[in-house]
Amino acid sequence: MDYAATGQEALSRIAEASDLETLEALRVEFLGKQGSISGLLKTLGKLDPEERKVEGPKIHALRESVSDALAARKDVLETAALNARLASETIDLSLPAPEAPRGTVHPISQVMDEIAEIFADLGFSVATGPEIEDDWHNFTALNMPESHPARAMHDTFYFPDRDAQNREMLLRTHTSPVQMRTMLKDGAPLRIIAPGRVYRSDSDATHTPMFHQVEGLVIDKDVHLGHLKWTLETFLKAFFEREDIVLRLRPSYFPFTEPSVEADIGFTLIDGKRVIGGDPSKGEGGWMEVLGSGMVNRRVIEFAGLDPNEWQGFAFGIGIDRLAMLKYGMDDLRAFFDGDVRWLSHYGFSALDVPTLSGGVGTPA
Ligand code: PHE
Repeated sequence: MDYAATGQEALSRIAEASDLETLEALRVEFLGKQGSISGLLKTLGKLDPEERKVEGPKIHALRESVSDALAARKDVLETAALNARLASETIDLSLPAPEAPRGTVHPISQVMDEIAEIFADLGFSVATGPEIEDDWHNFTALNMPESHPARAMHDTFYFPDRDAQNREMLLRTHTSPVQMRTMLKDGAPLRIIAPGRVYRSDSDATHTPMFHQVEGLVIDKDVHLGHLKWTLETFLKAFFEREDIVLRLRPSYFPFTEPSVEADIGFTLIDGKRVIGGDPSKGEGGWMEVLGSGMVNRRVIEFAGLDPNEWQGFAFGIGIDRLAMLKYGMDDLRAFFDGDVRWLSHYGFSALDVPTLSGGVGTPA
């Protein structure tokens, strides 16, 4: 028998198949269990040996050429399908930005970036710690044992359950626990800032239950109060972008620093508005408290496993929200966290305005 005609027909139908589904239908038609060529193969069994010797190779050759043609056509169709998909799914990365970009950088984020930029220039790196803390890191290791009255001043949010070490769990009331965590992890010397969220049960126009602080910690040899004062002054001048910043240090008390100092910054009154800068003792104006600080208490250094005769340091804690309000002129802290789009677009910053010391750390959008 001559299978040339059968082969020709099969090959031309395969060549005409325009998609993978049609091709699969053809494969089933020719080579499937009930397929025509499979049927021919089955006839071999009924032939006598002589005939089989003649017919066998011809049918096998037919089967082979059809299956080769199917595979080749499948390749072509798959490549075409992929190319079509690639063509339809391209995106044009050269599209221009929308005319009115939506969304702004929140003033808190911007101010945190500004602070990090300034302290990076002074050789500080950024450290972090958990917002869900245990009372050892938040209080005890900072020289506030359980009965210490300063604990009561923090209006702490406690969790109902204790942790695996049977420590009470709480939302950190300040960023100072990051001091302890960093000393325990990295030892000394150290120069870090730790910006982040802190929580206290308190709410009015100048207090929200969640607010932001940035902690600073320097541990080294022969560190003294003069270093602290210079660092704070240098930071505040860079932050407010004014040379006439006047700082007043007042003796204060924090269990984890000794001595402790609170710092006030001078403001002047211009058309009845408070403007940071100038010396209030020489004219109209006044002092505004901006931060707490001091020399790290020897006991805290001991809690961190360091020898206080070898290592000293200073620490400070600054209210970021307060600083943002002073610099950019917002008067109600609660508006920071309302998520009102009008407030955000008014006070927010352009995403492209990355703070730099050469370009100015803070330029409103
Ligand atoms: N943790 C203190 C507070 O929240 C601030 C502070 C930090 C004071 C570091 C001294 C040193 O009020």
